[in-house]
Amino acid sequence: MRKLVFATNNKHKLEEARKILEGMVEVLSLSEIDCNDDIPETATTLEGNALIKARYIKEHYGYDCFADDTGLLVDALDGAPGVYSARYAGEDCNPQKNMEKLLNELNGIEYRSAAFVTCVALSLRGSEHIFMGEIAGEITKEPKGNAGFGYDPVFKPFGYDKTFAELGDDIKNQISHRAKAMEKLAQFLNNLID
Ligand code: IMP
Repeated sequence: MRKLVFATNNKHKLEEARKILEGMVEVLSLSEIDCNDDIPETATTLEGNALIKARYIKEHYGYDCFADDTGLLVDALDGAPGVYSARYAGEDCNPQKNMEKLLNELNGIEYRSAAFVTCVALSLRGSEHIFMGEIAGEITKEPKGNAGFGYDPVFKPFGYDKTFAELGDDIKNQISHRAKAMEKLAQFLNNLID
């Protein structure tokens, strides 16, 4: 089966990608190709960062590769934290501190709509392709739930009365931003194989 590197070591993302691409390609993580490099994400857009990572693996390790970059875009904050979601709380940030900062910024604001947006970049046989996925929802007033990662405890998708962290991975992976982008990647790869 064709091997494709997913430029991540995040186990949630790997599991999700492997399920969606099952039977189509063998998905390898960065550690499985012995890549411990700290790939710089210096672009100012999700697409730019995803492309940097996919290109880096192709250039330095020779593998066809896909990479993702995700941002949480909050309307009342003019789209922040957006491309800077991972390091929203500054130098020594972590998911907890990022969520706290977000809740502080929204303190007293009732208009809390937001969207997760994922860009997946694919470098395959010398060509590059982009796939986008998005889910709209709102930021809750306090964190709830233990599943998932990142901002999941404070993001409630529209049409549901629970946060991603309460809904759990099975439901999240059917409706999420990343699942939608990955589905587009899967369709593209499927068409190539047919
Ligand atoms: P990355 O591009 O996947 O590294 O994500 C950037 C930031 O968004 C990180 O802080 C992640 O924790 C957060 N993030 C990415 N995907 C998700 C998600 O599915 N749920 C919650 N937070 C996420």
